[in-house]
Amino acid sequence: MTIPPPSPSVLPSDVTQQVHLDLLVLGSGVAGLSAAVRAAGAHGMRVGIITKGELTQSTTRWAQGGVAAVLGGDPDSTDLHLADTLAAGAGLCDVDAVRVLVGEGPARVTELISFGAAFDLDESGQYLLAREGGHSLPRILHAGGAATGVEVERALVEAVRATAAMLHEHTFAVDLVVEGGRVKGVIALEPDGRLVEVRASNVLLATGGSGQLFEVTTNPPEATSDGTAMALRAGVAVADIEFMQFHPTALHHPAMPRPLLSEALRGHGALIRDANGERFVDELLPRDQVSKAMMGRMLDLGVDHCVLDARHLDQFTERFPTIAEALERVGLDPGTDLLPIAPAAHYHCGGVLTDLDGAASLPGLWAAGEAAGSGVHGANRLASNSLLDGMVFGFRCVEAIERGRDGPMATGAMRAVLDAAPSEHYEPGSSVIGGRRIARSILPVDVPVLTATDDDEAVADIRTRLQATLTRHAGVVRDADSLAAAASEVARLAIELTAVRHGSTARLEACNLIEVGAALVHAAAERRESRGCHTRSDAPEPSPEGRVRIVIGGPDPAD
Ligand code: SIN
Repeated sequence: MTIPPPSPSVLPSDVTQQVHLDLLVLGSGVAGLSAAVRAAGAHGMRVGIITKGELTQSTTRWAQGGVAAVLGGDPDSTDLHLADTLAAGAGLCDVDAVRVLVGEGPARVTELISFGAAFDLDESGQYLLAREGGHSLPRILHAGGAATGVEVERALVEAVRATAAMLHEHTFAVDLVVEGGRVKGVIALEPDGRLVEVRASNVLLATGGSGQLFEVTTNPPEATSDGTAMALRAGVAVADIEFMQFHPTALHHPAMPRPLLSEALRGHGALIRDANGERFVDELLPRDQVSKAMMGRMLDLGVDHCVLDARHLDQFTERFPTIAEALERVGLDPGTDLLPIAPAAHYHCGGVLTDLDGAASLPGLWAAGEAAGSGVHGANRLASNSLLDGMVFGFRCVEAIERGRDGPMATGAMRAVLDAAPSEHYEPGSSVIGGRRIARSILPVDVPVLTATDDDEAVADIRTRLQATLTRHAGVVRDADSLAAAASEVARLAIELTAVRHGSTARLEACNLIEVGAALVHAAAERRESRGCHTRSDAPEPSPEGRVRIVIGGPDPAD
């Protein structure tokens, strides 16, 4: 399979150069800040953080349910957490990556607590643990009821501000600078419109997810897959990109992002009912299965939502104060009203392919958190494993840099392109080692990332049409015809975007969404089966041949 060469962005020639860093972190969510705190704090590296909004503005803030971690003294075990994660991942998890996640997670949570993060306690001072879909036991730490992300972000922002890390807010990382076969930094657009080249020995992509690919999402407007798009343009390996997880219990309401009714509500006893008031699904199944059951029931009944019944829950407002407030804002009372719900795009399970230390296929490049494809989530992420993932793998990237690592190793998910040697922990049926390479994208043109002058309305319209296309043709349920229709519409939008001469961040985001949208459609068309959160009506069952990672780009197999 020929991997096409990277397409350079069209960059003006007056780019100025900035200081040289040991580590440049892109993104300010849990993964990026966990890495920055460790690197700039105890390890005294010269660290910079680029974020396109404010430091506190990341998808992490929106996380509700919590952090799944087996802390000492729990009547649980990391092996059970491992087994639940592998089961949710539907045969595509990397078992070694999951072992790292569940094994190192508790230490990272303890560290976060030492930075001041306060998780909810019971009257006797013990951590209150919630249960969520796919977990065999209650093991979810939470804060402020269901405002865990706010607390995690607050603690990490304070910790990072206490270090010497250089902060570049309202700065947009446009593209990777690649020289001599390794990353050397990024080109970034500063708030005053100047382009700068930020040089760094290591670049960490911690840019979060891609919910803005779809019309209905729980993700904030900034979730535009910028890191994955940059990686694709630079020919870096990206994997599992077809797996977009839809959260089943987003409030069915015009507000965007969709207010989330945390999975913790179901762990607490809330029930899902159809339009006739009937229950039809086990509420504590992994969320891909719940979303699928809901879509099926909605189609059967010709309706656009189901309802969540929380009327019987005790102390709703005390346990879930932020959700109670959100419901009050839209005029709903969980004590008396059935809460309308429908699936919404929530989490991108794949991303930039990494090894067990977060190293990407390009030397000097690292990825962690939702931007990464580390294999921890397989074909469907287990609830409340995402904050944990960011903490664990953000930290591991820095540890590996400290050890002098340069370039990927044939460990974890990276075995899909570097080596097919099985892990000693390989578990038939629940973990995967192989990879299948496909070409970068189906776009008929390389969309230049930057161009001159502007046309805001045209860019917004292209983004809206992209979201409508992917929702209709590549959403919760897909098939070969719908994916072919999506591919040609995305290609048409790419051509339209080349004609829009606009150098703002809105255009950069649209460009990134088109790049990743095309990749998602392409990988989804190649995966001719249903698995985890990838559901094809024309291939409704998983197939034995499907237990491989679909990889786009990466090192030439002949090298
Ligand atoms: C939720 O609270 O339902 C979301 C948590 C997650 O995405 O894991």
